[in-house]
Amino acid sequence: MTEMRPMDPCPVDQLTVEAPAKINLHLEVLGLRADGFHELAMVMQSLDLADRLAITPRGDGAIVLNCGVSSLPTDGGNLVVRAAELLRQQAGRPELGATIQLEKRIPIGAGLAGGSSDGAAALLGLNRLWGLQLDTASLLQLAAQLGSDVPFTLSGGTQLCFGRGERLEPVALSPAGPRALGPEGPGELAVLLIKDPVASVSTPWAYGRCRELRGDFYLERESEFEQRRRSLRDGPLLAALQGQRALPPLRNDLQSVVEPEQESVRAGLELLRSAIDPLAVAMSGSGPSLFALFAGLERAEAAREQLQAALTAGGFEAWCCRCSHQGARITATVQAP
Ligand code: C5P
Repeated sequence: MTEMRPMDPCPVDQLTVEAPAKINLHLEVLGLRADGFHELAMVMQSLDLADRLAITPRGDGAIVLNCGVSSLPTDGGNLVVRAAELLRQQAGRPELGATIQLEKRIPIGAGLAGGSSDGAAALLGLNRLWGLQLDTASLLQLAAQLGSDVPFTLSGGTQLCFGRGERLEPVALSPAGPRALGPEGPGELAVLLIKDPVASVSTPWAYGRCRELRGDFYLERESEFEQRRRSLRDGPLLAALQGQRALPPLRNDLQSVVEPEQESVRAGLELLRSAIDPLAVAMSGSGPSLFALFAGLERAEAAREQLQAALTAGGFEAWCCRCSHQGARITATVQAP
């Protein structure tokens, strides 16, 4: 896991936390667990597309979330509020309060873990703001209680994620981060991300539909799960990210569930495949956001330019992103006098 900075005990009057989006470079549904969740084998990658949380303390014990997006809940239906409540309950300090201003940049309901990342950022920021000094392992445990993607979004970077998604294993990479071997040699792995702003996919629906379609075709034994995890650790995708070979086709088992149901996913995948030299094209998470990978940001930007007219005609929003080596991160603090 990416090493997070040790907790700084100094009280602060205000802080800002960045909450990066993620994409799935691999999402394999292995089996159904006794707790009703699916056993997964994934490779997740943080992006430099991030939400921002500005947090200030309050003396009245209220947790107040403000956000300019009317479709987002600002009560206990938002992971930011749930994270704050869980953290102060865990610390035995129910009197703690905060005002949190959430600036959304990550598309909502898109399979990019925006909500999970906001929850992770709230855990990290409030732990510092309230001077609780919970260590990284304790924060990761709380993160897993909030949602399957929250632990990854807390620590971020490039990681293998097993179990429900909360069992993290860092991928050993060069200091330059994940690599991509393009037609003109190696470069940094860069992403052209697209989303139809009016489309959204419910994650529980996607997993439920996966279950209907798979029927009994799930692995059952831990030894079978472990064999799949080993193939992923030793397989071509990680070797490619380490710069040793070209990217293989990407696998997302939820793509075959969502694609037949969502016209915009089919159209978007076709569009991305028509770009010049995409190294791979896939859906992220349970969708409907889609991405193409390139060797270098310039190529991702050139592809966006090449596709711009078709993207606009198809109603897609587009972002060119670099990979990020970290998850939720405190970016600014104002010290208490
Ligand atoms: O953990 P999280 O709240 O993000 O999960 C949302 C839903 O996605 C779950 O309620 C479940 O239906 C489905 N899910 C699953 N297996 C996973 C992760 C999520 O079935 N490993």
